[in-house]
Amino acid sequence: MTQQLPGTDYGQLLEELQWLWGEERSPLPRMANMVALLYRRLPEVNWIGVYLREGQELVLGPFQGAPACQRILLGKGVCGTAAVRRQSIVVPDVSRFPGYIACSPETQAELVVPLCWGAELYGVLDLDSPRLGRFTEADARGLEQIVVALLQETDLERLRHYCQG
Ligand code: SME
Repeated sequence: MTQQLPGTDYGQLLEELQWLWGEERSPLPRMANMVALLYRRLPEVNWIGVYLREGQELVLGPFQGAPACQRILLGKGVCGTAAVRRQSIVVPDVSRFPGYIACSPETQAELVVPLCWGAELYGVLDLDSPRLGRFTEADARGLEQIVVALLQETDLERLRHYCQG
């Protein structure tokens, strides 16, 4: 049996993030600090980043980890599928996800959370792990709360500029 990680305290992470973000409303510094903090706090995560929507594509934004693919079409891979569905996707084993886009041979599991506000899709938050079954639905719910907090205080007008393809 694979050992389960103790659950992450997303409430605590959110408090740290709110402190880091302070009064900053611009999307890029907020996203950059979010991925940097999550990358340092979440165990067994080899890549975390944001893809921002530009028209019908997702384009690489702030991230931590190895260089990654720069553009993903909406509907393709785990990222593009989560974006189109506007729903988080937990992938316990990437080799079993049809159309999975491999960016690193190390990655075994993935979690993608869409960045949505109202009717608008701004992009996705993507996490990769070298461990099979690393992410749970509890991780998805915790990260969805973090995404709500991210977008709630973000200058969405500025973010919309990136999304015009
Ligand atoms: N695996 C993703 C591509 C992005 S990388 O994991 C950083 C996908 O299938 O959409």
